Amino acid sequence: MFVKNLAARSINAAARRAYSASAPSSAKVAVLGAAGGIGQPLSLLCKLSPEVSELSCYDIVGTPGVAADLSHIPTKSSTTGSLPSPVSWPLRGNGGLEETLSGADVVVIPAGVPRKPGMTRDDLFNTNASIVKTLVEGCAEFCPEAVIAIISNPVNSTVPIAAEVLKKAGKYNPKKLVGVTTLDVCRANTFVANSQGLDPKDVDVTVIGGHAGITILPLFSRVGAKFSDEELEAITVRTQFGGDEVVAAKAGAGSATLSMAYAGYIFTENVLKAMRGEGVVQCAFVESDLTDAEFFASPVRFGPNGVEEILPLGDLSPYEQQWFDKMMPELKKQIAKGKDFVSA
Ligand code: NAI
Repeated sequence: MFVKNLAARSINAAARRAYSASAPSSAKVAVLGAAGGIGQPLSLLCKLSPEVSELSCYDIVGTPGVAADLSHIPTKSSTTGSLPSPVSWPLRGNGGLEETLSGADVVVIPAGVPRKPGMTRDDLFNTNASIVKTLVEGCAEFCPEAVIAIISNPVNSTVPIAAEVLKKAGKYNPKKLVGVTTLDVCRANTFVANSQGLDPKDVDVTVIGGHAGITILPLFSRVGAKFSDEELEAITVRTQFGGDEVVAAKAGAGSATLSMAYAGYIFTENVLKAMRGEGVVQCAFVESDLTDAEFFASPVRFGPNGVEEILPLGDLSPYEQQWFDKMMPELKKQIAKGKDFVSA
């Protein structure tokens, strides 16, 4: 099923990418999992973004309603909502996904189940691995040039799954596959600002590693604030396990959705701005040779073609180095689990 609002534009993706920095923005964003707790507010924020001219919402339920609802907001972007279509003639198998993904510049994927109290992100693996695999197979077929931004957890494994799927399809471009770790940066910024009495907009913490528990490493030594050892430990652990606070408070009703929608939107807008030629550096979980983990989150310069440059890590403080050493075996294990899922 497919709902389309007023003047849905079908400008071809290559032509859109040819825009210069001074040109008005014109980009198609596809949100997969758009009817969910993250997907709906993320789609709303994308609908409000001046960077987006076409918003395609896809889910296994609810997207015609989400898209119809969003389409009444008077912003310049058109909105569509698709569900998986029954197999049709000619046999495509993925009718709704094809409609959603064709011509997309950025595909954001928050599809999958969220955590309940007591669960780690890795506990989601069995369900979400298959969902991400199927959706990325669709990307390989219908929008191989798009930047794919993965939110579905466990990100440390779902991004390697996506990479293997794209490799199998002969469509892998490491510059165009990213795991979204922006929420870790948002949390680190918020916690530092609160503890130091700063305006959060003046804080930009670098967060490296991965996106699960101790694989999340905020580099507070670079913030220019003075912390006692106890404060530093508390704020580091709170950033690593901030998601658990929300999961516990929601008491079985899911994990972070509103803050994640905000983070996903900031990330997506930045990728779009970079496509138009604006210089953008933001943390992301990407294929990387900074460490001996195949994928690693660190500050990345984005450009017209996605990841332009992975910036050097710089020195870690002795405190951060301890966490780094603890993190690496865990991160590598989670990456291997994702890769093995596709090759099995
Ligand atoms: P939710 O359950 O509210 O929404 C998920 C949506 O995905 C549902 O609407 C569902 O119908 C849809 N879906 C399921 N299978 C699908 C398929 N094959 N194709 C398309 N859509 C499909 O969950 P919520 O809270 O939105 O979380 C989504 C994911 O995001 C979870 O895996 C969660 O762990 C992750 N997450 C990631 C964060 C990050 O920082 N990267 C932060 C918070 C959550």
